[in-house]
Amino acid sequence: MNYQVKSYEEYKEAYAISVADPEQFWGKVADEFSWHRKWDKVLEWNFTTPDVKWFVNGKLNITENCLDRHLQAQGNKPAIIWEPNGTEEAHRVITYAELHKYVCRFAAVLRKNGVQKGDRVCIYMGMIPELAVAMLACARIGAIHSVIFGGFSAQSISDRLHDAGAEFVITCDGAFRGGKDIPLKNTIDDALINSPAVKKVIVFLRTHTAVSVIKGRDVWWHDEMAAVDEETTMPAEEMDAEDPLFILYTSGSTGKPKGVVHATAGYMIYATYTFVNVFQLQASDVHFCTADIGWITGHTYIVYGVLCAGGTSLMYEGIPTFPDAGRLWDIVDKHKATILYTAPTAIRSLMAHGLAPLSGKDLSSLRVLGTVGEPINEEAWHWYDVHIGKSRCPIVDTWWQTETGGVLMSNIAGVTPSKPGYATLPMPGIQPVLVDDQGNTINGNDVSGNLCISFPWPSIIRTTFGDHERCRVNYFATYPGMYFTGDGCYRDVDGMYRITGRVDDVLNVSGHRIGTAEVENAINMHTGVLESAVVGYPHDLKGQGIYAYVIMESMPDDATHTKADILQTVTRVIGAIARPDKIQFVPGLPKTRSGKIMRRILRKIAEGETENLGDTSTLLDPGVVDVIKNERV
Ligand code: PRX
Repeated sequence: MNYQVKSYEEYKEAYAISVADPEQFWGKVADEFSWHRKWDKVLEWNFTTPDVKWFVNGKLNITENCLDRHLQAQGNKPAIIWEPNGTEEAHRVITYAELHKYVCRFAAVLRKNGVQKGDRVCIYMGMIPELAVAMLACARIGAIHSVIFGGFSAQSISDRLHDAGAEFVITCDGAFRGGKDIPLKNTIDDALINSPAVKKVIVFLRTHTAVSVIKGRDVWWHDEMAAVDEETTMPAEEMDAEDPLFILYTSGSTGKPKGVVHATAGYMIYATYTFVNVFQLQASDVHFCTADIGWITGHTYIVYGVLCAGGTSLMYEGIPTFPDAGRLWDIVDKHKATILYTAPTAIRSLMAHGLAPLSGKDLSSLRVLGTVGEPINEEAWHWYDVHIGKSRCPIVDTWWQTETGGVLMSNIAGVTPSKPGYATLPMPGIQPVLVDDQGNTINGNDVSGNLCISFPWPSIIRTTFGDHERCRVNYFATYPGMYFTGDGCYRDVDGMYRITGRVDDVLNVSGHRIGTAEVENAINMHTGVLESAVVGYPHDLKGQGIYAYVIMESMPDDATHTKADILQTVTRVIGAIARPDKIQFVPGLPKTRSGKIMRRILRKIAEGETENLGDTSTLLDPGVVDVIKNERV
């Protein structure tokens, strides 16, 4: 891979070229992939409509790059090593040749069940290799997958399914996660009650849970596979560079989750480029990313980026604390993982268990550590460095988003400098700009502002599915001519970047992105609730906790019980990840005369700050603030 930068000097050189001549830069990277037809032009773009096209008129299929391309040289190399949830079950190793066969065969199953190019396929599965197979099989035949995280409720699935216009679902009977069996198929059945458009549900047998199987609609994965020739070689559908590869829903500051659309070629190239560079991939690496494939991290750095680069992806079904807090270290030791990529929230939760779970675990295979998803506090960074990396593994702090497809800012392992809590420097091709609230560019160092990106990179969001205007308004309208990330950022005296957190109404709870409006909508569905306001507050383990202020029609007799019921409603409407940590019943909310909730005040109170609440004189009813702060939970 000629595009791997191997020294700080090479990074600087690559960065300079990527800015001076982006088309030449990305054209050279793209040359190393396999195409049916090369592009006419590397880039056409404007950030007004917005309209971004990379590798215009190029033709390819991403699965040929992930699979077929590696068969000759490394068909017997493990593509996926899978570690099950339970320690008594055997792990699985799937080579590139086996994965290729498996994907072709399942792609034939999809075809047989009527899936066509461009159709949307919703995937709701646990962390098993078949999830990657399902995604790749969709990509093989040009269907657009939309993976939904296994923790989302039936209602959330139904919303996403309708928004995407999905006619096909791939699921499992259930999923093993820690000590629990998650009844995925039952949840899908609930989600599909009002979805006559869904023609087929393909069910993989994992937990052997009793499930209903609806005649004509539901089919078993294993039956369908048995009906397809084992040696089927499913020719890869020729896709345009800009054809959508997948939709992934994520939360924004408004109520409804957005279906972020990624395009085939640009996503493939940027995912692979960043994987190879950030982690400084070596041929013998075993890359262990602990994310769930239901999030973008799993899409890019468990599946597509890793496989396109010909790497070995170590995939784990369960959770870090099952059966005990030493599990991740057992997995690293057992499979000799060389890269560990996880979230600060996982590090903090393992830190809380002390050092005993590390005793006797051989972590000497580790070469690079990574973190993603939320700002990492220095204490967690040092613990990770000293106790996991034994002070000899670089830690890459990778900042990016669902919308960016791949890492936009990070140090490059052992190549560029690192600094605890800093994403440090932009990747080649990324042009960050800090702007003030009026949109003025903030130059110089030792400055803070809203983080924007002024030039497209190959895996930038193309649209929000079914609603392009929403994409424009959300990302390209706040600061015209720039992509707005929604994050605040500090650039230090050396020009290094530190992400300070969201500046919009999006929370980051245990690395999961949750919109305050979504949680409020869910709470407001509960009987007796008049209105609610949700804010984040610092939480030792989760990074941010969810604090909900709720106005009831009348004060409940049994407040504890009502709070439990509200939590249940949120679980039903969104999923357990969105359950508030604290609920406070309030008589009113601090509103301006124009009816706008002053969240700044609510945030301060939730943080425990009861003095210095700023100017409250413009409030409709300033007295309500005293009541709220005196009854803080
Ligand atoms: O606020 C930033 C935070 O996570 C947000 C993106 O969330 P999501 O789309 O779910 O993707 C998460 C995984 C890529 C960002 O807007 N974030 C992500 N990585 C970091 C981070 N905050 C600080 N440091 C990071 N390394």
